[in-house]
Amino acid sequence: MRVIVAVALLLTPATAAAHDGAATGPPPAATALALVLAVLVYAHGVRRLQARGRTVGAGRQVAAAVAALTLAGALLPPLDRVAAALLSAHMGQHVLLTLVAAPLLALAQPLNVALAALPRAWRPRRLPGARLPVAAAALAHAGALWAWHLPPLYDLALASPLLHALEHATLMATAVWLWWAASRQRPAGALALFATALHAGALGALLTLAPRPWFAAHQAGGAGLSALEDQQLAGILMWVPAGTLLTGFALALLAAWFRQAERRTPSLMGPRTLVLVVLPLLTLLAPGCNRAAPTATLMTGGDPGRGRAAIPKYGCQTCHTIPGVIGADASVGPPLTKLAMRAFVAGQSNTPDNLIAWIRHPQQRRPASPMPEMGVTEQDGRDIAAYLYTLR
Ligand code: HEC
Repeated sequence: MRVIVAVALLLTPATAAAHDGAATGPPPAATALALVLAVLVYAHGVRRLQARGRTVGAGRQVAAAVAALTLAGALLPPLDRVAAALLSAHMGQHVLLTLVAAPLLALAQPLNVALAALPRAWRPRRLPGARLPVAAAALAHAGALWAWHLPPLYDLALASPLLHALEHATLMATAVWLWWAASRQRPAGALALFATALHAGALGALLTLAPRPWFAAHQAGGAGLSALEDQQLAGILMWVPAGTLLTGFALALLAAWFRQAERRTPSLMGPRTLVLVVLPLLTLLAPGCNRAAPTATLMTGGDPGRGRAAIPKYGCQTCHTIPGVIGADASVGPPLTKLAMRAFVAGQSNTPDNLIAWIRHPQQRRPASPMPEMGVTEQDGRDIAAYLYTLR
């Protein structure tokens, strides 16, 4: 209880700071007010439950308090103001909402507590969706995540405070539902989190590797980042935390389920276990097996296999070390290892267009560069670039 009131007090200065105005979301004052109200209702619910002799554990109260602080950090200035200009900051908000605040709220179960604050006649007997399988929650969250990142919808949301609030509300609500359902339906919940890690990671990867910016709202970039660099940062912000946090939680759920199963039955290795454990592990490994080649083709319009075959034709291997090309271990020029992971090639940002232009006409891009013009054709340039982008 004391924790809750302390959080409410901490949130009040945010209301005062709210006058600078965020450009796109609902007014910060309204957001702060809603948060303080929610915290007060929750605190009231805790007291009502305690009066009836039912305690809300300290862990749950702390989770609720930290969730409230995370929500304030995500939805109020300064982050909210920066998010109007920078896609990466906006993505930071989404990560805080869906991967930090949402699991905390699933843990704190604030709805059960808040409902206790309502007069008895208003209380629903069961929460909507409580009986639905976790797969429904995972599908709903996937729908919200992908729909709101489609460029037309995204740009609409950023142009209207109401739609923007709806965007955050649907992302958040489906995320809380997913986390809550996953934590209660253990083996299936772990699968749902694995699946979410895969598709959210894929969306992050698409953003990171896209050759041009997707969203009109962020065309200008900002804070020293170009629109494309901002988008790459946003993609990585989504890719890495989504992958690691969701996979980590899924493994923890599986471990808990194992321990439970061990206590119940001595024999573990039934076919059911094999399917439930081996499948997620396979999906976990799947991204590591070659997703690089299709991505490289998408980026360049070239064919990595043909590119590798074309390299000896031009003699690149006489100057460069190139993994996967026989005899290419020279050190006249820089090694082309892990080329896909570089931020810069030949002094320019590592975009497909820049790389292809460099391979075809190094002397035009940087007069007096020691790398000679080799008369690389347009198609060979694309193919070779495609091959180089499979090097990670
Ligand atoms: C005569 C030697 C030579 C040959 C042949 C050559 N390069 Fe280079 N390459 C260089 C040197 C030297 C550099 C560094 C030049 C610079 O930064 O101005 C370089 C730079 C590069 C870079 C940028 C690397 C980085 O880390 O920034 C790429 C990519 C590249 N070469 C690809 C190729 C490809 C593909 C071929 C064959 C079509 C090729 N090179 C043939 C000497 C060569």
